[in-house]
Amino acid sequence: MSEHAGYEPVKFAYWVPNVSGGLVVSKIEQRTDWGYDYNRKLAVLAENNGFEYALSQVRYIASYGAAYQHESTSFSLALLLATERLKVIAAVHPGLWQPGVLAKLLATADHLSGGRAAVNVVSGWFKDEFTKLGEPWLEHDERYRRSEEFIRVLREIWTSEHAEFSGDFYRLHDFDLKPKPLASEGRPHPEIFQGGNSTAARAMAGRVSDWYFSNGKDFDGISEQIAEVNATAAQHDRRVRFGLNGFLIARDTAAEAKEVLREIVAKADVEAVEGFGSAVRQAGQSTGNKTGMWQDSSFEDLVQYNDGFRTRLIGTPEQVATRIVEYRRRGVDLMLLGFLHYLEDVEYFGSKVLPIVRELEADLDKTAATPEPVHAS
Ligand SMILES: Cc1cc2nc3c(=O)[nH]c(=O)nc-3n(C[C@H](O)[C@H](O)[C@H](O)COP(=O)(O)O)c2cc1C
Repeated sequence: MSEHAGYEPVKFAYWVPNVSGGLVVSKIEQRTDWGYDYNRKLAVLAENNGFEYALSQVRYIASYGAAYQHESTSFSLALLLATERLKVIAAVHPGLWQPGVLAKLLATADHLSGGRAAVNVVSGWFKDEFTKLGEPWLEHDERYRRSEEFIRVLREIWTSEHAEFSGDFYRLHDFDLKPKPLASEGRPHPEIFQGGNSTAARAMAGRVSDWYFSNGKDFDGISEQIAEVNATAAQHDRRVRFGLNGFLIARDTAAEAKEVLREIVAKADVEAVEGFGSAVRQAGQSTGNKTGMWQDSSFEDLVQYNDGFRTRLIGTPEQVATRIVEYRRRGVDLMLLGFLHYLEDVEYFGSKVLPIVRELEADLDKTAATPEPVHAS
């Protein structure tokens, strides 16, 4: 690989199952457990099976499934302390966190973990979560305006000795965070991810996020998003990296894998899926051009909260690996994966799918590799 020093192999993240019910809204048997013992074991297994990142979920109340939820930042810290190399991304909602408090918490988590803390800024789709906590529910694009300020504040606090900020949502006056998080080459502070697909989300990513997470998409769907985010990023002299969600079902034969998907959908919790569908569509209604997540999701798509079946990582190890490498070729830096039976499926992924991905990557035309990231100030 030395003659292609610019090429970065595709990275892998998994969704932390820190809410009950697993990653599909289905009554199919799931051996995945949302508790800490299971998750600690899973995190260690994942870092030994090719996973560089784990993404926790944030949920404060039951939401069409997910009856029980472990809090995201504390659970992420526990997983950081249980592992050696895994980077754990804590999901947070601006509007429920004061950014300075979160900046402080993550700086400490970064020190406790040797520089492995990261954050996913989610702008929210679930109105009840805010109103039941007595917080105002902002209109869609206002939520993104607040998220953008939130990210700017985090970065300012993490990189400036006399942090100053004057915005519509947040203010800082000569604030000096000590200690700062652990900075290293190419990583001046904990990496900042975001989830969201609307026009407002894409523009925010181009301006301020290190990473843009997409819901499940086919090849053209992800290419379109990457092009749009990159266009904004270029105007700001930045580089954004891309993570793509996919629910992975790899089995020895394609027929077995398809049968698992068929059973998941056949046993879907119809009431919960429909309730979720109408809540998320309502949350995106205020985006005039209907580009938000879930705007065109079918019933089957919604059985996996984040449209993970659409990425079609369902088949034999060869079929799945081939699709992953095609996504990489199209500019996806990180595959964010969900599984049915995590412990079994992560091990199968590491032993059967990952080696084929790496073999296929060795044959890729690496001259198309993307440049080194530029971090916004
Ligand atoms: C990878 C990913 C992870 C997300 N994680 C969460 C989460 O843990 N909690 C949450 O409330 N929303 C989460 N979201 C949803 C976002 O908060 C946001 O509501 C959603 O992306 C809709 O935004 P849009 O209208 O810009 O498409 C996630 C989104 C993505 C893509």
